[in-house]
Amino acid sequence: MAAEDNASRINHPFQDGRMNFTAFSRCLEYRREVAELMLEALPYLPERFTQVDIGAGNGLGTQVTKGMTEVFLRRAAVYGIDPDPYAIAQASKDTPSSERCEIAFIEGFGQDIETLVAGRIPKEGADMVSILDAVHEFPPDAQFPIIQAGARVLRPGGIFVMNSTFTSIATEENPAAWGFPAVKAALKFGGRKAKQPGLLQRPPEEYTQMLRNTGLEVIYYQVVGVTLPTSAMVAICQYPGFVEGVRKSFVFDNEPTLEQLSEELQIRYGKSRPLPRKWVRWIGQKPA
Ligand SMILES: C[S@@+](CC[C@H](N)C(=O)[O-])C[C@H]1O[C@@H](n2cnc3c(N)ncnc32)[C@H](O)[C@@H]1O
Repeated sequence: MAAEDNASRINHPFQDGRMNFTAFSRCLEYRREVAELMLEALPYLPERFTQVDIGAGNGLGTQVTKGMTEVFLRRAAVYGIDPDPYAIAQASKDTPSSERCEIAFIEGFGQDIETLVAGRIPKEGADMVSILDAVHEFPPDAQFPIIQAGARVLRPGGIFVMNSTFTSIATEENPAAWGFPAVKAALKFGGRKAKQPGLLQRPPEEYTQMLRNTGLEVIYYQVVGVTLPTSAMVAICQYPGFVEGVRKSFVFDNEPTLEQLSEELQIRYGKSRPLPRKWVRWIGQKPA
């Protein structure tokens, strides 16, 4: 697919050896949030289940499922879908199949999920579809269609597991503490706040409604606080998705490259104390 076509399907540049999600995806606090959510999902899953993980990134969701199959003596087949070739390569390297968990990472867009998993998942559909910390990164107009396509590949009774740390409530209790380091980094390049933030932060209710509009019943909804240590904030500043979101939030006299802005953001967030933010979790179920 041509690069210009990709632009409407993904909001930010792909990862590479210098700028990637690897360090952040290894942060304990981030991993714990995903692990806790998957534990909430476990009671709804059969002994042997199939999962489709949309926006699989560097493999965290799959790694959590693989761990659960060992701890809880389950068996799973997991298909991790992501358009980013670097993410897919890293995830594949770090997450080989095991006796209990069969794993395949597939390069592709959430928009094409039905074609990508056709012939791989059971005819009646997958037991679980997940979108872990990724929905807010999909282009705004693609978010509902991707959720809808994900719901279509679920079997009746199957569950849709989703979380996001970029909703309108994420930093409602400490907006300045989260905002200042970015403002200071942008100032170095003559940046002034743009009219709109670079990443749409929807109210959680909008995502709840999207899940309902696909016909899913929302059976679990929770807002949890996660305090990110300074090292995690420095790590997220190495991720193109985050840095591009900051870059689009400002208008610059001298627009920095992603690498330049990343370096400055790492310095600024590296001086911050650990910061809490709110994660929102959903589990939806397809009517049986
Ligand atoms: C913040 S990462 C989260 C990765 C992983 N789920 C995790 O929790 O560690 C978001 C991922 O969404 C992916 N993404 C962005 N646009 C996408 C799209 N249109 N379809 C599928 N994945 C997409 C990005 O490539 C990125 O790997």
